[in-house]
Formats: sequence, C-alpha cells, structure tokens
Amino acid sequence: MNTNRKSAKLDALLERLSSRGFVPDCVVKAPGRANIIGEHIDYCEGMVLPFAIEQSMYFVTKRHASDLVVINSEDYQSTWQEGQATTDSWMDYIRQVLLVVRKNNLLVTGCEVYVTSDIPIGAGVSSSSALCCGFLCVLNEINKWQLGKNELIAMASEAEYGLGLRGGKMDQYSIFYGEEGSAVLLDCRDHTYRLIKIDQAVFQFMLLDSGVQHSLVHSDYNSRRDEVERALVQVREVEQEACYRSITARHIDLLAEHSVEWKRLRHVYSEINRVGLAVAAIEQKDPIGLGQLLFKSHYSLRDDYEVSCPEIDWLIAYLEQDRGIYGARMMGGGFGGSVICLVKEKGFQNSALLARLYEKNFGRRLQTYPVQCAIGVTTL
Ligand code: GLA
Repeated sequence: MNTNRKSAKLDALLERLSSRGFVPDCVVKAPGRANIIGEHIDYCEGMVLPFAIEQSMYFVTKRHASDLVVINSEDYQSTWQEGQATTDSWMDYIRQVLLVVRKNNLLVTGCEVYVTSDIPIGAGVSSSSALCCGFLCVLNEINKWQLGKNELIAMASEAEYGLGLRGGKMDQYSIFYGEEGSAVLLDCRDHTYRLIKIDQAVFQFMLLDSGVQHSLVHSDYNSRRDEVERALVQVREVEQEACYRSITARHIDLLAEHSVEWKRLRHVYSEINRVGLAVAAIEQKDPIGLGQLLFKSHYSLRDDYEVSCPEIDWLIAYLEQDRGIYGARMMGGGFGGSVICLVKEKGFQNSALLARLYEKNFGRRLQTYPVQCAIGVTTL
C-alpha cells in the first residue's frame, strides 16, 4: 500500500515541529479527489465514478491541557482558534466543522493542529472537502468518538452546506472510501458504492489545472441545482412518479425545447447513461471507448449544463486534436478548475507547446500532473 508515500511538505513540517519538542498524538492524511465521469449528478441521484488521489492534506495534532482548539495553516501562514473571527476561507471551513460538532453535542478536547497540503487550491480537486473530512477524522481520533465513516461524511457535508454550497456527497465519499488502484462507483440514491478496478497499464489520467480558480460557493453551482430541480418538478406535473434515475428522452420532450430546464435535465439523463457505459469500457479495458465518453461528457457540461469556461473549452478543443490522448473533459464543479485527461502511454504529443500556447492566449500558467487512484483518509 501507498499510505506512507512521502510528502516533502509533511516531512518538513514534522521536522520543524520535532525540533520544538512537539510530539504529535496523531497525523492524518486526507486526499483530494478526481472524477472520471458523472459530473453534476451526485445531487440528482446519479451514479458517479470518482477516486481519491495521492495529493493530500496533512494534519499533525497534539492534545493540550486547555479546552482551546487551535489550527495553524502552514500554507497560509496563519492561525485560527475557536471563538475568534475568521479572516480566511480555510478558517471558515474549520469553524463550520466545529459548529456541526458542537451541534451534535460531541465533546472536544483542546488541541493544536498543524495543516499542510499538496492539493492544489481552487483546482476542482476538492481541497475544501479534504479539509473538512481530514479535520473531522482528527477530532474523531483524538476525542475517541469512534464515529464511522458515514457519520463523519454526513458532518463534513453539513459543514460545507453551512457555508452555502448545496453540494452532493461525491467528494466526501471518495475521500473516505478511496482505495489504491480503484475508483469508487457511488450510487447517489442510497450512497452505496462498488470499487471499480482501474488497470493502470491501460488507463492513465492526467490533470490539467487551468489556473482559473473557482470558489463554488460564489459560483452558479447552486442555481444549476435549482434549475434541474425545477425541470423535475415540471416533468412531475405530467408524470407524478418520475425521478431523476427514471428519466428518459420521452420525459425531456415534455419540457420546452432548448429551455434552461430542458438543457439541464438532458445533461443529467445523458451523464447518468455515460457513467454506465464508462464502467463497461473500463471493465472491457477499452480506453478508446472511455475517451470518447469523456469528450461527450464535456460537451454536455459545456452546452447543456453550462458550467465550463472559455479557458477549459480551449484546452478541450486543443486536446481533441492531440493524438497522444484518448479523451478529456472538465472536472469538478466547473467555472474553472481542472481538466481530466485520459492519456496514451507516452502522454501528450507536446505538453510544453500546449502550456506555451495556453499562456499566450490566457496569460495563465498551465499545471499538468498525473493522478492515480489512492487510498482515502488514513491516520499515519
Ligand atoms: C463539487 C461538489 C460535488 C459535485 C461536483 C460536480 O465538487 O462538491 O458534490 O456536485 O461539484 O460533480
């Protein structure tokens, strides 16, 4: 297993803390997540296929005598303690987690936590969920609550809701249930899941971070959810029993063609179908088939769900012409963030050229890195 793979940032932090005589009671690693396919359907009872990635957030914690919970962010060079005003968004997430914990009447011992991270921020790989899930895991460990993963997922998700994002639970499930070498096929109707083995000799994924940072809380994420809910209400005016998972092309035809609701529901319907086809392509070791599904998913997210942005669309248009890849699409909540790309053995034909052209067009640096299915939240 890869659980002990080194992180230079974690090593540096541990060394610095040890030189000050800080002996941790617990060290937690919480990964970011990628998503092969199944975008914007986790809050529509869809099937999604994310995986935990190796890039992680690390929490080094020591109990202390007072009741105070103190958190230090190495990356932001700032400290927050419970009761203080928050001045940064990472503090808002931590504060929100503590509010949920207090609401649940869980006893919290005083502790000092140091956080550092290899997960790119605002890149659509769910650094905020890693922060909430990892911090909850720390509290569960040091306070010996003995809560199970699903209870921690419910609290992590409630904390993010508290900040205004009406998200689904795909991120938290993949962060907690990720396994090395497998993606998590999550059924968002009842949150049961099945691990899907990803043969790394056949399926290699890269992420392209567009550098367009997104904060979903301040994006149109919630309005997309409202729109698709409205679409279902309209269908139910004709067919009371309809639900997202039973939608067919016939139901979509009940809506005014090209209306916002028609487009949103068309995405949900087609994306749910693509997830099933993608699982079959993975099981049949068919990267060409999977690549085509990724492109189709992107077109649907771009045209029907309208959550892409010019930079990401430009990248996809470029990648369509690159014979070094099988397929690509925008990943995560959208409005920026990253592209997930299924690459052939040798990868892009000319990634340096792509980065140069991208910078010339948009004045932004393109960051490209490989991702593999890794283990979910762990104590090291
Ligand atoms: C964000 C949300 C997830 C999911 C994705 C889009 O990451 O947190 O719940 O909706 O966007 O698939």
